[in-house]
Amino acid sequence: MIIPVKWSDEGVLMLDQRLLPTEEKWLTLKTYNDVAAGIKDMVVRGAPAIGVSAAYGIALGMKNFVGTNMVDFEDELDYMSEVLAKTRPTAVNLFWAIDRMKKTFAKAKEEGKNISEIKQVLIEDAKAIHDEDIESQRLIAKFGGELIENDSTVLTHCNAGALATGGVWGTALGVIRGAVDQGKKVSVIADETRPYLQGARLTAWELNQDDIPVTLITDNMSGHVMKKGRVQAVVVGSDRIAANGDVANKIGTYMVAVLAHRHNIPFYVAAPLSTVDLNCPTGDDIPIEERDRREITHVKDVQLAPEGIGVSNYGFDVTPNELVTAIITEKGVARAPYTESLRKQFEE
Ligand code: MRU
Repeated sequence: MIIPVKWSDEGVLMLDQRLLPTEEKWLTLKTYNDVAAGIKDMVVRGAPAIGVSAAYGIALGMKNFVGTNMVDFEDELDYMSEVLAKTRPTAVNLFWAIDRMKKTFAKAKEEGKNISEIKQVLIEDAKAIHDEDIESQRLIAKFGGELIENDSTVLTHCNAGALATGGVWGTALGVIRGAVDQGKKVSVIADETRPYLQGARLTAWELNQDDIPVTLITDNMSGHVMKKGRVQAVVVGSDRIAANGDVANKIGTYMVAVLAHRHNIPFYVAAPLSTVDLNCPTGDDIPIEERDRREITHVKDVQLAPEGIGVSNYGFDVTPNELVTAIITEKGVARAPYTESLRKQFEE
């Protein structure tokens, strides 16, 4: 069972995903700044895992606060929230978790709790965010698993597995695990996911751990395998879903969705409601992270491209809602028109 981030009395524990699949090393992060750096530097990644980590980062930072003045305590919360919010722009779960922790603080303060009581309340709420995330993935696995046919191959992009969430299931890989749990025979084709190789390094590693058959391809092979009839469904995760059902996910997802449409293959998105941002009317409103050029020009220390060449390194793209067959959340399966179906899920 993979749980990539954990709370401990010594600090926040993170499985260092930068080293996978060749090394399994856990880091103990002792300050909120360490947690922010862990998110920014990709020790932990994947939208729900980033949210859980940010909640633990705040709980840790507040636990470390020394003093008795409530105004200073609250200033510290605001400051660390800003530091954490600057780590990664696209995954809305980050902002969702920070917002929830701030609301938990405000409620505890209003109830007249003292600093030491509030510290405990924040630790408990961060743990609750983590537990709720795992429970959401379990339900996504159940609902999504029902959409996958027996004897089928599912193509996925990036890593939307246990590593990318609070753990155990994952979103897209949760759907696959759910189908397997329901007794179906399912295999996976994993896009390697240039340039950061989450598919090759993480998805392949994760599925291997669970003995789910996985075949790795380069990103530019996905059209070919679809044309050959080797893919019965595509399932991906998301970093942010706009109110109209436009889906931001790892760069290359849009390309896969267009190909799936061309080949009449269902294109499913699996994500908890903490990934749905009703404040973003459409995908055009979602901020897209741009990353270091070196991820493209180099593989580790090996230079691939000429010195000084122009580079674009977009971390994410947006798949328009008309290419999305269904969005699977912990509340069930939402279908077009998403503006209504997603909003309804929030009201349930
Ligand atoms: O840059 P990353 O590795 O954080 O990007 C991760 C993804 O794009 C995932 O597909 C997404 O966060 C969903 S994770 C359940």
